[in-house]
Amino acid sequence: MTTTFTIEQATGRSAQEREALLAAPGFGTIFSDHMSRIDWTADGGWHDHRVVGYAPFALDPASAVFHYAQEAFEGLKAYAHADGSVWRFRADVNAERFQRSCRRLGLPELPVEDFLASVDELVTLDQAWVPRGEEQSLYLRPFMFARTAALAVKPSTQVTYAVIASPSGAYFGGSGVVPVDIWFTRSYSRSAPGGTGFAKCGGNYAASMVAQQEAEANGCSQVGFVDATEHQWVEELGGMNLFAVSADGELVTPQLSETILEGVTRGAVLTLVEDAGLSVTERRVSLDELYEGIDSGHFTELFACGTAAVITPVASLKDEDGQHVVSGREPGATTLALRQQLTDIQYGLAEDRHGWMHRIV
Ligand code: COI
Repeated sequence: MTTTFTIEQATGRSAQEREALLAAPGFGTIFSDHMSRIDWTADGGWHDHRVVGYAPFALDPASAVFHYAQEAFEGLKAYAHADGSVWRFRADVNAERFQRSCRRLGLPELPVEDFLASVDELVTLDQAWVPRGEEQSLYLRPFMFARTAALAVKPSTQVTYAVIASPSGAYFGGSGVVPVDIWFTRSYSRSAPGGTGFAKCGGNYAASMVAQQEAEANGCSQVGFVDATEHQWVEELGGMNLFAVSADGELVTPQLSETILEGVTRGAVLTLVEDAGLSVTERRVSLDELYEGIDSGHFTELFACGTAAVITPVASLKDEDGQHVVSGREPGATTLALRQQLTDIQYGLAEDRHGWMHRIV
């Protein structure tokens, strides 16, 4: 049974200020007027379900999250439809993945109903912050962190869960579909067997930062990782999953393992591919196979997918030894068709055949 959230309405910004911010939202830099919050203690369980004004947290400098990174998060979006209604996409899948992540991090599991209610209450209160521009959405960031103030390395007995909302445009900036260059590193690993790769936790992203710096220094907007043992099997990008499409229309994507995050968009893509009657294989894919396939013309399209990235064509793969340009950097027909099908469902322009959308407002 869902617990009732207390709503503490904040003054917030004026309609004029809000509209100015919404004019060019970018990705993840502006935030709505409120946030959801629930606290947890080992003795008292989940309590104080509320929506309050967006504000900084007052945290003890000894809070465990600062020292031992005991934290997990999610990313999902709410979409405005032409009739003014607002919908979320597959949030139940995010809620279940959040539980898996928290379990791995020694954090308490938030009931799925509370996760969904925390999103719905916030979006309902801040519905004026859902942007209405083309391919814009309200990016929602649920997260949980350890706040016990003690330096012993032990699971925290005090935890805070919160959701913030960020009106957003394209993750990679620019307008339209802009293909991106990916830098593949074999020197830095994101995760290893037995580690936290399958969990959505800050530590995995922290481990990707230096490699992301290297990617940017080499003119790429995103880093790609191979496995930490043999340094040859493609896993995922810094914040998204990867697919390759062959000239004869077959798709391939790295099979899930304990070192790969199970993307919610990745799952939707697999379904859309089947709907389209195309064939897709989840299997081990080596970086050399991708390089050779691109160079020989076997792989004519590559794309990245994720909540933030949606479906973004890949222009090239690059490393210290050179660059492998995919089909003259032109986005491929399969990539664009899948992207269109996905966004049409999300924005209410196509039938929601799989029951992925849920109306909030
Ligand atoms: C998301 O797609 O929601 C993520 O959390 C990935 C990050 C690149 C923003």
